[in-house]
Amino acid sequence: MNTQQLADTQQAFDAVAAEYDGPLGNNALVQGLRLRTLKAVLRAVPPGAALLDLGCGTGIDAVWLGQRGYRVIAIDWSPAMVGRAREQVTRGGVDRGVTVHHLGIHELERLPEHALDGAYSDLGALNCVPDLALTARAIAGRLRPGGALIASVIGRVCPWELAVCLRRGQWARARVRWSKRTVAVPLAGHTVWTRYYTPAEFRSAFEPAGFRLRSLRALGLFVPPPYLFAFAQRHPRALAALETLEDRLAGWPAVRQWGDHFLIVMQRDG
Ligand SMILES: C[S@@+](CC[C@H](N)C(=O)[O-])C[C@H]1O[C@@H](n2cnc3c(N)ncnc32)[C@H](O)[C@@H]1O
Repeated sequence: MNTQQLADTQQAFDAVAAEYDGPLGNNALVQGLRLRTLKAVLRAVPPGAALLDLGCGTGIDAVWLGQRGYRVIAIDWSPAMVGRAREQVTRGGVDRGVTVHHLGIHELERLPEHALDGAYSDLGALNCVPDLALTARAIAGRLRPGGALIASVIGRVCPWELAVCLRRGQWARARVRWSKRTVAVPLAGHTVWTRYYTPAEFRSAFEPAGFRLRSLRALGLFVPPPYLFAFAQRHPRALAALETLEDRLAGWPAVRQWGDHFLIVMQRDG
């Protein structure tokens, strides 16, 4: 991923920042994904702990955690997202506990070394970094020994997407997640440069930086991906049933590496 690609991604998220909290970035399906990641943060790190939000977007998670007693340093590469996040922090009454910085995850070395209790990244911000292994080292440098990383990451095998693309004859789109390279994903007339990972690929970037796997589950395995929210709106009872099924099965070894995203919790060696 080069400088131009980082600039494209920044422009894409700048363009959607104003409307991100509506159906685009926070519809019922996104809220379902978000809640599961936030609950994983609650389980991994106790209230009062200091956290780093990697790619905070409009600050929904940082405010939610700030209101539950966490201290959060939130960073994002999009200036427009940072502006929205700062507004939400003030509106949410968490100015004292949550700070928002305009900083790329790929620039994390510029953030002073900390001994934070945890770092989290929700909804694929780590799929947008140029070098995941370097990022892993930078994150490790900001966590105390034993600190946790909680990340929801866009995966390679999304059965729903495959089914929809094959049904529509969209062969190129069906294959897009298989590319080992950074791929151009359209967003509101702009481009988000994205790398897709299997959990094994993700772990192979983080384990050399001193992280060990704590837990892994699929997100969006039986539940459709966020862009199918019209389907979910039409079938609320089916959605509830799929969510229940997914929560039961998403950690099973056979399927936990599939889904629109995967939710991985790792721990920095003590
Ligand atoms: C899909 S949004 C998720 C935002 C937020 N985590 C949430 O849960 O709503 C991805 C976010 O990652 C940010 N992002 C993309 N590339 C980034 C980078 N290299 N460094 C930091 N943030 C980045 C985008 O600006 C955007 O806000």
